Amino acid sequence: MQICETKSELRSALQKLRKDGKSVGLVPTMGYLHEGHMTLVRRAVAENDVVAASIFVNPTQFGNPEDLEKYPRDMERDLNLLRAEGVSVVFTPVPSEMYHANAQTIVETKDLANTLMGELRPGHFRGVATVVTKLFNLFQPTRAYFGEKDYQQLLVIKTMVRDLDIPVDVCGVPTVRETDGLAMSSRNVRLSDAARKAAPIIAQSLDHADTLVASGITVASLRQKIWDHIATETLANVQSIDIQDAYTLAPLDGKIKSDIVILVAVEFDPVLLIDQRVISV
Ligand code: PAF
Repeated sequence: MQICETKSELRSALQKLRKDGKSVGLVPTMGYLHEGHMTLVRRAVAENDVVAASIFVNPTQFGNPEDLEKYPRDMERDLNLLRAEGVSVVFTPVPSEMYHANAQTIVETKDLANTLMGELRPGHFRGVATVVTKLFNLFQPTRAYFGEKDYQQLLVIKTMVRDLDIPVDVCGVPTVRETDGLAMSSRNVRLSDAARKAAPIIAQSLDHADTLVASGITVASLRQKIWDHIATETLANVQSIDIQDAYTLAPLDGKIKSDIVILVAVEFDPVLLIDQRVISV
């Protein structure tokens, strides 16, 4: 497995690997890999001739410097995990390699970036779209893999690929969960023991929502019931619960008559956890 710290090392490594028209699968990550990432890697290995990954804690998608500083990192462990799955090349740039000191260009999916989680974390999706565009330009992958847990991120990336004619197939991969239902996330290690015990309430509230939708319910009362359910955990500080059209993220009201996505953001001080559920009707 080749580890490239610079863009030029990466370009020459990929040039050799790509010869004879080989397909390249890319798994972009911010490191501290868990089973969710490894599921993306395994799918990339199954569907491509060559698999590449990036490990880069992208500063431009963090609004809060403390969150960026505290983001967990373990490069050696990550590299061993990727090597064991048969990844051929990993890009591990430092921020000054990734971004020009006088960088002027950003990528923003206007409406999608500034609603929902984008309203909660201003600038976050602009940072994601910009860095992912740069990764697509550098790797020129055939396919790229992202978790469905970050549902709005996945839609942002699909939209930007469509709008900018980027020749890559964006593949969404279902959320991987702990046995108690908590969606896997690199942030989970920052939960206190008590918060870790309480956090599965998020997935439980989404399971409960499945039943409520099947019985016929309005958007407003579904939202209230999910909120009340999560709030029974005293450590849970519900930040937002949004029930939107599953494909456009347009807001909905009244009785639920089409496929929805429920997007939940809950803070277990100071860790913000997100989860989502698509429910087809
Ligand atoms: O989902 C992530 O880990 C990040 O947002 C991504 C896509 C690697 C961009 O930094």
